[in-house]
Amino acid sequence: MSIIKLHDKYFKTYISEDKITKAIQQLVKEVSEDCKDETPIFIGILNGSFMFVADFVREYNYNCEVSFVKLASYQGTNSTGKIKQLVGINEDLEGRTVVILEDIIDTGNTLQEIYEIFSDKKLKRLKIATLFFKPDVFKKELPIDYIGISIPDEFIVGYGLDYDGLGRNFSDIYQLTTKPTIKNILLFGPPGVGKGTQADLLKEKYNLIHISTGDVFRSHIKKETELGILAKSYIDKGNLVPDDVTIKMLKSVVNSIPQSNGIIFDGFPRTKAQAIALDEFLEEKGQTIGGMLTIEVPTNLLIARLLERGKTSGRSDDQDEHKILNRFNEYFTKTEILKEYYQTQNKYFGVDGVGEISDITKRLSNVFDTL
Ligand code: IMP
Ligand code: MG
Repeated sequence: MSIIKLHDKYFKTYISEDKITKAIQQLVKEVSEDCKDETPIFIGILNGSFMFVADFVREYNYNCEVSFVKLASYQGTNSTGKIKQLVGINEDLEGRTVVILEDIIDTGNTLQEIYEIFSDKKLKRLKIATLFFKPDVFKKELPIDYIGISIPDEFIVGYGLDYDGLGRNFSDIYQLTTKPTIKNILLFGPPGVGKGTQADLLKEKYNLIHISTGDVFRSHIKKETELGILAKSYIDKGNLVPDDVTIKMLKSVVNSIPQSNGIIFDGFPRTKAQAIALDEFLEEKGQTIGGMLTIEVPTNLLIARLLERGKTSGRSDDQDEHKILNRFNEYFTKTEILKEYYQTQNKYFGVDGVGEISDITKRLSNVFDTL
C-alpha cells in the first residue's frame, strides 16, 4: 500500500491500473456486442472521463465517433447536487446510437442531467457505460447499461478522477484514508548543508528516531566489519555505496529499533532504486514516507563549510576540495532524480537552509507539522 497526499487529504492505493484495464476490456466487449453493426457515438463526460474514453476507444475495434460533454457537480469530496453544463453537444445526433462514457456514477445527479440533455435529440438509442459505480449512494431509477467496477461509498481519485483538481494523472485509483500517525521523513540536501544538526533537533522535538546512513557506515568502518570494509572502499573515493549493500544495512537498522513516532532518514535513499526499495519496505510495515524535506544552500557556501569541518572532523572526504566536488556531482546527478520521484507523490518540500540554525529548524517544523 502506498499513501499520497493531495491538498489536505491522504489517499491510499486501492485499484491497480491492471484491474482497471481488465474492467475496460470487459466493458468494450459488452458494448461491441451491442453496437458493432452501426457507428455509435461515444460521448465522454468531462473532465473525469478523459482517460477512460482514451483507453476505451483504443480497445474498441469497430467504427465509432468520439465526442465530449463537460459537466461539473463536485466541489471537494462532496457532490453539490447542482450540475452545470460547461461544454455542450454540437453534433446532429438524430437517429444515432449514443453511448455515454462516464468515469464514475455516484448519486446519479449527473446521470439524470445526461438523460435530460439527450431526451430531445431524437436518438435511436442512448446507452450508459460507467467505469466506476457506487451502488450504495445511487438514488435514481435510471438505467445504467454497462458497469465496470462497483465500489463502496468511498471517495476515490486517480485515472482521471480528482480531488479539487489534483490526482487525475495517476494511473491507479487511490481511496481516501486517514492521516498516518507514524511520520517518516527524509531529510535531504547536499553535503555540509546541516542535515545532521537539524535531524538532531527535529528528533528531540518530535520524538523521532534519526538514522544517518553516513553514521551507520562510519560505525561499521570503525568496527571493520565486512560491510564496513566494503563501504570504505567506495566512500574514500567520494562515491556512493552500491544500492544492495545500503538497502540491506538500512533494513537491519530499522528492524532493530523500537516502535517510534517515526524515523528521520538522513542520507538515504540516494538513488531511485533505494527510494523504491524503501517504499516497499515501509509498505510491508503499513507505513509510508511523509515527505522529503530538502535543505537548500548555495554550493559555494557549502564548499567553504565542508573544508572548515574537515579540519576538525577527521573525515577524509571533507578535506579535499576535489573529493567534495565529486560528492556534489554525485548528489546533483543521482539524488536530484529523487526530487522528481517524491514530487510526483506531492511529498517534496524545499526549505531555505541559509540563516540561524533555529530559524532553519522552524522552517523545517512548519513543513513537518503539515505532513
Ligand atoms: P453524481 O452526479 O453524484 O453521480 O457524481 C458524478 C460525478 O461526481 C462524477 O462524474 C465525478 O466527477 C464526481 N465524483 C463522484 N464520486 C467521486 C469520487 O469518488 N471521486 C472523484 N470524483 C467523484
Ligand atoms: Mg464525471
